[in-house]
Amino acid sequence: MLDYIRKISWYIFSNKKRYTLIVLFLLIANVMDIIPPQLIGRTIDLINNGEMTETIMWNILLIFAAVIVLTYVVSYWWGYLLFEGAIKIESIIRSRLMRKFLLLSPGFYERSKTGDLMAKATNDLRTVNMATGFGIITLLDSTTFLLTIILVMGFTISWQLTFFALLPLPLLAIIEQRLGRMINKRHKSSQEAFGVMNDAVLEVVEGVRLTRSYVQEDAENRRFHSLTENYLNKFMKVEKLDAFFQPLTIIVVSSSIAISFGYGAVLVNNGIITVGELITFNVYLNMLIWPMFALGMLFNIMERGNASYDRIQNVLDETDDLNDIGEAVVKETNFNFNEVTFKYPTAQHNSLEDITIELNRGETLGIVGKTGSGKSTFIKQLLKIYPEGSGDLIIDGVNISSLNREKLRDKLGYVSQENILFSRTVRENIMFGKPDATEAELTEAIKLSAFDEDLARMPEGLETLVGEKGVSLSGGQKQRISIARSLIKQPDILILDDALSAVDARTETRIINHIKDNRKDKTTIIITHRLSAVHHADKIIVLENGKIVESGTHQALSNGSGWYSKQNDYFITGGES
Ligand SMILES: Nc1ncnc2c1ncn2[C@@H]1O[C@H](COP(=O)(O)OP(=O)(O)OP(=O)(O)O)[C@@H](O)[C@H]1O
Ligand SMILES: [Mg+2]
Repeated sequence: MLDYIRKISWYIFSNKKRYTLIVLFLLIANVMDIIPPQLIGRTIDLINNGEMTETIMWNILLIFAAVIVLTYVVSYWWGYLLFEGAIKIESIIRSRLMRKFLLLSPGFYERSKTGDLMAKATNDLRTVNMATGFGIITLLDSTTFLLTIILVMGFTISWQLTFFALLPLPLLAIIEQRLGRMINKRHKSSQEAFGVMNDAVLEVVEGVRLTRSYVQEDAENRRFHSLTENYLNKFMKVEKLDAFFQPLTIIVVSSSIAISFGYGAVLVNNGIITVGELITFNVYLNMLIWPMFALGMLFNIMERGNASYDRIQNVLDETDDLNDIGEAVVKETNFNFNEVTFKYPTAQHNSLEDITIELNRGETLGIVGKTGSGKSTFIKQLLKIYPEGSGDLIIDGVNISSLNREKLRDKLGYVSQENILFSRTVRENIMFGKPDATEAELTEAIKLSAFDEDLARMPEGLETLVGEKGVSLSGGQKQRISIARSLIKQPDILILDDALSAVDARTETRIINHIKDNRKDKTTIIITHRLSAVHHADKIIVLENGKIVESGTHQALSNGSGWYSKQNDYFITGGES
């Protein structure tokens, strides 16, 4: 439990004023709490001795009223300050987590499950909030209150009685510590199960159409049921431990009360304390139930918070495996692959081997080859997405490892194979490429990507909402919005990764012609399965198993006898040769 406090101490220290005030208000509230029992004891003794007068009674009532008002005010303040602090730490950590999510490389996302990351960003953060708000308040409240009461019992009544009555307490502390450790472990595994379940929910929702078309609803249901079951079991294991605390507290406090009555009676008999004092003492003992009970809950909450904090911290501690320290900025966009060989961190075989190619500004490169031959991998090297392979990749005379990644990407317009659209309007999706683009630039990009005809048919034109909450787009429409997004940026290097696969031949020709005319002095890389898209390219490379097996212009390659010319003939004859 103290572990957790240590982990969030940075927050407490940076909010010293807030937490000092909280402690101060708490102490005042505690002092207020011990006054009523004292008054009760005194009143009883006064009545017992026949010394009660009207003035004394009014005085006592007045003090009571003052205590109630003051308690109300300070309790409001510490509650407010504390829970505000808890929400703030939650939002601070959440922003850190989001910033990290945006920075981490694909390698991290290949290792982690989306559902688990979401669990961290929601459930685990909530738990940290609970531990920092409710947890700290209980910790401060119960310990200071416990101490205050013990001191008051000792000083105003009897140290002897206090000592014996409190003998059972340490037992509670020892058991709680043991249980706390177990709760930490079980909570972690319960959160992991929650992450897996979360992931399954995502998958079910995303794949619902597929599931229906294969009539797999029952199988999916069963699979999901077993995951829910698993989470439930793990969660219940935590709750079972939690349930131990309450009866335990009651047993310990009851034995204290029994001791105090037994031993207290002896002390009253011997004239060491009065009856009123014994009653006050027992009221105090009863008041101990809350802090003891709270301490029990506290162990639980803090240990859960501790486990969740670790889970989040693990993400925050992830280092960027790209180790991007490059500072250099390029001007020209000539690039040179010099025997580049690359293997994905998780793969067995090289996905690129001995790639050597040079491309100068203004040229167009076509990349073709069988599926899985390494075309997308080639591009990912340029984007600096994965750690570098061996060999040299030189851009504008500078090794890519010394280049600043953001500045490099700034020069690139990349349309990936998977068209990613946000659930926003068409305008927002395109302007994402250049948020400060003018209306003219927007219209131009739409024209170049041949999206204008489609746009005219959309219900609200540029303001049409697309994606999950809006209009469903066809594959070809999505591709063209993605192309418009990259063109609006007028990038120095445009990269289309199979970005025309879902458009018809006529539209493809239109787009290719626009790009040819519009990007004469800029570099363009086109990856395609349809050779017509690269006829005009200055250079074409054919990849196979990560190697360049042929290269040249369309003319030269189609006159050869390799994969390219066979593919070309196949297209021309419709596969009938
Ligand atoms: N993230 C990854 N981790 C491990 N291996 C990968 C990863 N991405 C791709 N590969 C492997 O690298 C090889 C090349 O993949 P790549 O995506 O570059 O092919 P491609 O030529 O773009 O294929 P397609 O035409 O189908 O898009 C494949 O064998 C693939 O299995
Ligand atoms: Mg690919």
